[in-house]
Amino acid sequence: MQKQKITQIPKPTRYQNAAIDYYMGITGSSYLHYGYWEPLPQPGEELNISRLRVAQKAYTEKLFSFIPEDVQNILDVGCGIGGNAVYLDERGFAVEGLAPDIIQQEKFIQNTKGKIPFHLTRFEDFQSSKKYDLILFSESSQYIAVDDLAQGAAGLLSRGGYLLIADMMRADAEYTEGIFSNCHVVSELKIALEKAGFSLIKTEDISHAIAPTIDLSIDNFRTFGLTTIKYIADVVKIAVPPIHAIGSWAFKRWLEKLIVEGLQAKKIFESHLCYEIQLWQLSK
Ligand SMILES: C[S@@+](CC[C@H](N)C(=O)[O-])C[C@H]1O[C@@H](n2cnc3c(N)ncnc32)[C@H](O)[C@@H]1O
Repeated sequence: MQKQKITQIPKPTRYQNAAIDYYMGITGSSYLHYGYWEPLPQPGEELNISRLRVAQKAYTEKLFSFIPEDVQNILDVGCGIGGNAVYLDERGFAVEGLAPDIIQQEKFIQNTKGKIPFHLTRFEDFQSSKKYDLILFSESSQYIAVDDLAQGAAGLLSRGGYLLIADMMRADAEYTEGIFSNCHVVSELKIALEKAGFSLIKTEDISHAIAPTIDLSIDNFRTFGLTTIKYIADVVKIAVPPIHAIGSWAFKRWLEKLIVEGLQAKKIFESHLCYEIQLWQLSK
């Protein structure tokens, strides 16, 4: 098992890890992805965390349906805390997980009962003489530059090996600033992968089936997040007025814009992004 010191993990990755840890705490699930809502909820139907967990299991089943029959071993890049890896292990694949986060590593080992190897590293830094049949990026492609992803995957796959990517992507290349702007532009990802020797085998746009998770997140944020922030602000205003004044200033300076944008996430997603599952094959 490859080890990496926490200090070697870059700051932006550590910020992302903090956000992922927060998401883990809210869902209590072993999956860190958006899920696949099928059937789609009817307008006005209640969305909740239990239903999200069902959708997350369905998403992993959906990913599984993309895996070609000749695949035996899989590198699960950005494996999170092991939900997908356990599912694949139970279906007979030899799986290895990889993620640059020590908290995820602990939870991954717990959730997989220590049976599945875990590499504590960024994909960009991962080196191995082993060749894999399939490399999975389940909502982790957006954290890795397209050329690093394409060339790194080509170097780790056996000839004719597969790359399975499922992620939010930018359909609109002009969308360059904002909460989802780290997602890859579909056309740029395609160019990088083709340049590295991959051909697209199968693709499916599942935007409609992940969108209820955005609705659920906004709903929860509005109900619990904003209400909690307001309650804390009210208490601080009564108890320590000067701290409240500094807090209000800091809120306006750094947080207000992010919150307004977060509440518009669904609109931003529908206008500029899509969610695709793509199966690529490396030339033989
Ligand atoms: C949204 S989570 C998805 C987790 C899991 N694949 C799933 O579907 O539940 C994103 C994952 O990508 C990982 N990640 C972020 N930057 C990475 C990098 N540079 N190399 C490898 N993994 C990375 C995170 O630590 C996390 O495990």
